[in-house]
Formats: sequence, structure tokens, C-alpha cells
Amino acid sequence: MIQGAIPLKIAGVGYSVPETVITNDDLTKLYDTSDEWIYSRTGIKERRMVSGNQDAVDLGYEAAKKAIANSGIDVQDIDLIIAASSAPPRLYPTIGCLMQAKLGIKRQIPAFDITAACTGLIYALSIAKAYIACGLYKNILLVATDNNSRLLDWKDRSISILFGDAAGAMVVTASDDGVDDVIALDIRSDGYIGDMIEYPLPGQNCPLVKPCDERESKITMNGKEVYKFAARTVPQFVSEMVEKAGLKAEDIDYLVPHQANLRIIQAIQERLGYTDEQVVVNIEKYGNTSAASIPLALAESVEQGKLKLGSTAILCGFGAGMTYGGAIVRLRKGIC
Ligand code: UT7
Repeated sequence: MIQGAIPLKIAGVGYSVPETVITNDDLTKLYDTSDEWIYSRTGIKERRMVSGNQDAVDLGYEAAKKAIANSGIDVQDIDLIIAASSAPPRLYPTIGCLMQAKLGIKRQIPAFDITAACTGLIYALSIAKAYIACGLYKNILLVATDNNSRLLDWKDRSISILFGDAAGAMVVTASDDGVDDVIALDIRSDGYIGDMIEYPLPGQNCPLVKPCDERESKITMNGKEVYKFAARTVPQFVSEMVEKAGLKAEDIDYLVPHQANLRIIQAIQERLGYTDEQVVVNIEKYGNTSAASIPLALAESVEQGKLKLGSTAILCGFGAGMTYGGAIVRLRKGIC
């Protein structure tokens, strides 16, 4: 921890999901699959999807409004927006810039997007932590929103069954009581195996030069290898993070993991020795919502009373890159 650093308060969280529900049975209209196959391998029963022109910016806006309302902060006092997305509707203008306009923020505050796939919220929180610690910004809006359904190949049953659309948001501020809500935070990446999950943008070289290889613009994934990577790396990483923080798993009340596959969540749970009541799981209803997954799981479980505030939690995720990361956080009363 930096000496004299300003502590961070998690002031508010919120989430938003599209209304349209697509069940496993619905997917059998697209290809040869079954509810049994999908549920037994992933824990997913259904997912939400945008319809018509609705997109990740709309979802992010709804989540941001809730997080801001819960934080008690005036929207005009937000001085930085960081959006995390790996399935945005466009590369630019960024979601962050569009969010500034949609929220009606009058000052020309900075706004930018980051891509760390399903670890996006943890990466965004680490950036916010550094900015707040050094006193550069005071009230930061984090928006994690993904519109996966528009980037998937709807003929590929091995990948498209996994994902859904959603958004989560968090407002963090400079803490005025000396208590830092980020007890520990660690982010990592292993770019050497980055080709395990890819989404190439379309494009061709200038006709005056040698052409580049053409690649279809759609999400591709080596599911088996991603599964092995996550099941091997994430439980180990999380238990090391807890140990490095000088804590024991029993010192922390809840686990809020990225919702990618129920079996990966169970592997982390087993490693830490947590009960079912301590582990937030909503993959059954939403599938893998990428960057939105952790804040959605957090905000929804608080709203439903499954996660009691005034507690501590481990947030952890992994995704394309391959990125992974985690944070041990304090969850104050009133954030949701
Ligand atoms: O945020 C990061 C996100 N990614 C992940 O966390 C993904 C991690 N990986 C996984 O969760 C699993 O690898 C999957 C659930 C994606 C796939 O499970 P798997 O046991 O690794 O299946 P597989 O890809 O090895 O396929 C097994 C069989 C194949 O048939 P054959 O070749 O054995 O005859 C597939 O063609 O299952 C078939 N299959 C399907 N069958 C019915 C693949 N997808 C489907 C499907 N429905 N949707």
C-alpha cells in the first residue's frame, strides 16, 4: 500500500439486464443441443439478450443510474468514468464518453474504456484505486457492460450457448472515514495463451500492399483449454491472494466469482472451503455476461438479501487475454 494514500470507499453498485429471456430449450431451434447438455456442463439454464437496437450502452446507462442513486452522490460530482467492455457496440465513441452524455454530466470530465474481458471490473477498480489513492480523482463511475450476443456466431453451438448480455456499475469515492474498502487487489495476465479466446475486428490492408490473412469477425474459443486454464489457475490465485493479504479464507464472508461455468466456481469454492450460502451463483439465469458478470452477481445478491452488507467479499474473475484478477473488498451498508 502507498504511504499516505487516500483510501477508497465503494459507495454504490447497480445492475441491469435486458428483458428478453432465451432458455436452453429456445436454443434447440437454432442447432442440435439440449437443456441437459448445456446445464450439466455449465450450470446455465437461460440468459438475457438485447433485442432490436438496444445495446451495451443502454444496459450500462441503467446500471450506472442505479449505482449513482445508491451512492448518494450527485451525478454532476462524478469526475471520471471508466467503462470495461469486451463486447461494445462500437470501438468509438467509447462507452465511457457516451455514458457521460447519456447521464447529462455537464463538465468535460475524462471518460475512457478498457478491455480486460471478464476481468474488466477488477482491472477498472485497480485503475480507480490508483487514481483515488494519489488524489487525482475523487468520485469515479465504473461501468462494466457487455453485448456478447451480437458478436457470437449463432451457428456455433459450442460457444454461443455460454454467453448473455448485462451490465453492472460501481461508484467509488475517496473515503472520508479513513477506511479503505479495497483490502487487497491483484490483477494478472498471460498473453502467451491469448489465442484461447479471440474476437478479431474486420479489416483489410491497403490494396497497394500485400494482403493480410482474412479472419471472420466473431468470438472463437478453445473451450476445453479455457476450462483447464481457469480450473487450474483461478482457485490457486484466489487462495494466494487471501494468504498474501495476511488473511484466512474464514476471515472473508463471501465469494463473488465470475460466472463462466458452475464447475469452475465449485472448484474455487472447494479450495477455499466455503459453504453454498457464502458463494454467489447466478449463472443459471444469466450465463456468462463477461465484464458485467461480477458486478451483476454482487448487486443482485445484495438486492435479494442473499449477500448481507457490512461484510467482506472476494471478487474474482478471468477471461480473454488471458486476464485474471481479484479483489478483497468491504461491502458497506447502503451500497445497494
Ligand atoms: O469467460 C471465459 C469463458 N469461457 C469459459 O469459461 C469456457 C470454459 N469451457 C467450458 O465451459 C467447456 O469447455 C464447454 C462447456 C464450453 C464445453 O464443454 P466440453 O466438455 O469441453 O465439450 P467439448 O467442446 O469437448 O465437446 C464435447 C462434445 C463434442 O462432440 P463429440 O466431438 O465428442 O462428438 C461437441 O461437438 O459435445 C459436442 N457439443 C455439443 N453438444 C450439444 C459441443 N457443444 C454442444 C452443444 N450441445 N451446445
